[in-house]
Amino acid sequence: MPVDTRTDTHDDLLAPAGSGATAMTAPLVDRWGRIHRSLRISVTDACNIRCRYCMPAHPAPFLPVQRLLSFELIERLVRAVVPMGVTRLRLTGGEPLLRPHLADLVARLCRVDGVEDIALTTNGILLADQLPALVEAGLRRVNISLDTLEESVFQRLSRRAGLDRVLRGIDAAVGYPGLEVKLNALVLRDVNLEGVVDLVEFALPRGIPLRFIEFMPLDGDGCWSRQQVVYGAELRRRIAEKFGQLQAVSRPDPARPAVEYRVAGFEATLGFIDTVSQPFCDTCDRLRLTADGRLRNCLFGKEEWDVATPLQRGAADDEIRQRVRACIAAKHQAHGINQQNFTPPHRAMYQIGG
Ligand code: 5AD
Ligand code: SF4
Repeated sequence: MPVDTRTDTHDDLLAPAGSGATAMTAPLVDRWGRIHRSLRISVTDACNIRCRYCMPAHPAPFLPVQRLLSFELIERLVRAVVPMGVTRLRLTGGEPLLRPHLADLVARLCRVDGVEDIALTTNGILLADQLPALVEAGLRRVNISLDTLEESVFQRLSRRAGLDRVLRGIDAAVGYPGLEVKLNALVLRDVNLEGVVDLVEFALPRGIPLRFIEFMPLDGDGCWSRQQVVYGAELRRRIAEKFGQLQAVSRPDPARPAVEYRVAGFEATLGFIDTVSQPFCDTCDRLRLTADGRLRNCLFGKEEWDVATPLQRGAADDEIRQRVRACIAAKHQAHGINQQNFTPPHRAMYQIGG
């Protein structure tokens, strides 16, 4: 990484001249002492399906291509934040594989010195086709959404056909040596609760870790209700009835939100991201970038910090970092889903980045 020689009035602690070390800036710490190390990059708000927990049935037009932050500017932002310790990246959408030439972005980001991890979250529909290019570009981790194994339920959930393509994507991914694959499932009480055991029976014998994510009030139709949420505890009870007692696994990295369990006889773990029933805000280390170049400090935040404009006019890294710091300085202690006065953000999940 080129050493930044501009003067920073704020916080750049440049490595001593000639030390050969990477220039580091002060870490990205918020008012509550949380150090931010991960950046979720949404590359498009468009999607090829319409999951009811995320999108409205009839979304407003997706962002026009010219409003999407270019790969070059995404890379510039990443180069600005890596020295602040933000070294773990995840590409999301919408559906990120709808962004043309996504593998080029992966390749660019893999070349940035100091980036420790690049992962992708996808619905899997286009994965089988794109996987060779993505792996070639350096992708090593992929999370694929799988909420059901029945096409009719898939269609109720996502208002589109395509489970067979998702399953093909999963097969393709699992076949790649060196690619870490996880499955993400979201359960809506009235839609896919009955298929939970089937998901476990699908994932664990194949050696694929499966994680259940509680439904959060981020759906585009604003239909979230507590009645539809199935808490992790209830899922664990159901799964234990079938598979026997789940064994909690000690958590190596507290910033990873999933609490992991092991089922006797299987290596792969079951994870539970109990965002609603057990908020993990106190260990949150995430910063988000929307597809149109806005920074957000929380899924539920009401404010955004425009980095597209300064990036487009070629602002220096220091100015970009100051925006990032402003965004993190304003971060609230917790999302407040369980508080009386909670109101959801004005953007739905697909517009923020899952
Ligand atoms: N609540 C929780 N998770 C969600 N996702 C999308 N919408 C929501 C929501 N309302 C997650 C799902 C999906 C991933 C892309 O984002 O796990 O698989
Ligand atoms: Fe698309 Fe993902 Fe939202 Fe489903 S959850 S509609 S796959 S962006």
